[in-house]
Amino acid sequence: MGTNLRGRHLLTLKHHTSQEIEYLLNLSADLKNKKLAGDKRGLLEGKNIALIFEKPSTRTRCAFTVAAIDEGGHPEFLGINDIHLGHKEDVADTARVLGRMFDGIEFRGFSQKFVEDLAKYSGVPVWNGLTDEYHPTQVLADFLTVRENLGKLRGVRFVYVGDGRNNMAHSLMIGAAKMGMHFTIGAPEELFPDPILVEECLKMAEENKLGATIKMTDDAKAAVKNADVIYTDVWASMGEEAKLAERKAILWPYQVNMDLINASENDNVIFLHCLPAVKGYEVTEEVFESRYGRQFDQAENRLHTIKAVMVSSIGNL
Ligand code: CP
Ligand code: NVA
Repeated sequence: MGTNLRGRHLLTLKHHTSQEIEYLLNLSADLKNKKLAGDKRGLLEGKNIALIFEKPSTRTRCAFTVAAIDEGGHPEFLGINDIHLGHKEDVADTARVLGRMFDGIEFRGFSQKFVEDLAKYSGVPVWNGLTDEYHPTQVLADFLTVRENLGKLRGVRFVYVGDGRNNMAHSLMIGAAKMGMHFTIGAPEELFPDPILVEECLKMAEENKLGATIKMTDDAKAAVKNADVIYTDVWASMGEEAKLAERKAILWPYQVNMDLINASENDNVIFLHCLPAVKGYEVTEEVFESRYGRQFDQAENRLHTIKAVMVSSIGNL
């Protein structure tokens, strides 16, 4: 039977099987080729899409907007100061109203519970555009970029260095466990991922039988040895700005600089970053501008993967 994601939410990648993730990546590649060929087919024709943003965004907002318009849909941006949500009205009421008007809802904000409640009460597909805990649409773009460069996901040695307990580290770990990758986090022990999630991911890896491994070390150079991919993210995520000083005090050894790239001992290693990047901290300008960097292909792939997420759940396929 073919994969069918009609009506499905995307709240974390935990609830998607490896086949479903593979399907989304194949659909993304297909939609990317179609866009490059100038072939747009109105796959979201007649669909109204709400875009709720409590936190700022460049890529996610633009990707949802352009993806919807490319396929004939109507995106409506709802900034946190534009609507009553979180001030006068609770999430259950806002969800029930939006669900009667829109075909799908994207939410970016702080609380994972919030996006889960939107899904629970709205009656339409809800897509997580980043919360404090997870950023699943980013992982799809990251994995499409890895596949474009390395031809596969299974068996890829994927190393994340920096804040190992943020939304990106957690979401990448889930994705890697699902797709059979060798995932290593290089971080100070106090920034290791949530041990409960690590257990869950180890269990997912075992159940999927694709050979995924998950490791953690506080030795950045040991972490990146033989890496195919070196990934980093900001040292203080949105909402955690007050922690920047304490993060800086412990994260310098995890900066992605040329020494760390060379420590991979792989001249074909690629560098990824979800962006925005704070150059001079988690990554040097030299690495960012080097031949290793794929971060702008990755940013473009947000568009194609987010389009696939919307088309697969509410599109006229
Ligand atoms: N990577 C990412 O989510 O970027 P924005 O914060 O610009 O949406
Ligand atoms: N961890 C970052 C990701 C930004 C796309 C943040 O939450 O700010």
